[in-house]
Amino acid sequence: MLRLDDASLYASCDPSGMLHTALGLSRQVRDAWEIGRAARLPALSRSPAHVVVAGMGGSAIGGDLLAAALGTRLPVPLAVVRDSRLPRYVGPESVVIATSYSGETEETLAATAEAQRAGATVLAITSGGRLAEMAARGGGGVVRIPAGFAPRAALGYLMVPALAALERWGLVDSCAEDVEEAARVAEEVASESGPAVPTARNPAKRLAQELPGRIPAVYAGSPELEAAARRWKCQFNENSKTLAAWNAFPELTHNETVGWGAPPEVRAVVSVIVLLGGDEPERALRRIRVTTELAFRHAAGTHEVRGRGRRVLSRLLSLVQLGDLVSIYLACLRGIDPTPVEAIETVKRRMRDEA
Ligand code: PA5
Repeated sequence: MLRLDDASLYASCDPSGMLHTALGLSRQVRDAWEIGRAARLPALSRSPAHVVVAGMGGSAIGGDLLAAALGTRLPVPLAVVRDSRLPRYVGPESVVIATSYSGETEETLAATAEAQRAGATVLAITSGGRLAEMAARGGGGVVRIPAGFAPRAALGYLMVPALAALERWGLVDSCAEDVEEAARVAEEVASESGPAVPTARNPAKRLAQELPGRIPAVYAGSPELEAAARRWKCQFNENSKTLAAWNAFPELTHNETVGWGAPPEVRAVVSVIVLLGGDEPERALRRIRVTTELAFRHAAGTHEVRGRGRRVLSRLLSLVQLGDLVSIYLACLRGIDPTPVEAIETVKRRMRDEA
């Protein structure tokens, strides 16, 4: 029996149930939509000039996914800021959505304080902490999301209420169908790639089997999928505790392809994973084929993964969910618990203690 098909593996390698949570993305998305629809939002006295999502790590990626999913449907720019400082343009015409699962992240708290000083409308999405208090005290809105998850495992809760808020503020047309389709495709991915599905028929387990001892380089087939590639990379880092890289077509054909001239022993440990939306124009596919032929042939392996659904949100979230599962299976193959992120906690603790 292949290791990932042994049901007893998961109780020992994943005692906190990261796999179970990842498989429940569809439920989380639907629940988060209801939370966002019901939350009390700060009123906007005028249409904002732009939206800024401030957050770090697992709490920031939802902002990238949101921006990609809405694309040109959003009439104003949406910037994701992963820093304590906000751009100088933030002021009374700005909406700042501060996302921090713990509500205690130093950079996000500082950015929120700056947004408040600048007179921006602030909406916090958090399970509690100082962020919730700070936003409420400053007259902003607070969307409280359920506690008890690892931040990266609460992606639906961190992202979907922001989508609901943008819709309710009239910044985007109805998103209910986007959310429902995304939840549906997440269900499909979960049923095809769950632990009970044998490796031979399980896309996530099969890909994970290819990755022990490798550095995954996750390449989005188009800029629209960049956020999914970044999420895969971060999930390999945090769940599988391994190095990983990400980039996107067509940009990578203007720089990273040259890097494939690295020494053979370096190239031999890199496994390429190309994320596709399924609707790439012929010319974009040709660019990927040419690059595969010229550069990725030196890699340990090249794998293609396709998103699902008609809408961008569905494609992104189906890719995200598959990547989450691959990263957890890879952790289990390595005998590593996917949940603890000691290195992140240590830096946070030392920064606090040495302040
Ligand atoms: O996934 C993680 O645990 C991290 O990337 C955190 O999301 C990051 O450190 C920020 O913490 P928080 O999400 O609580 O703001």
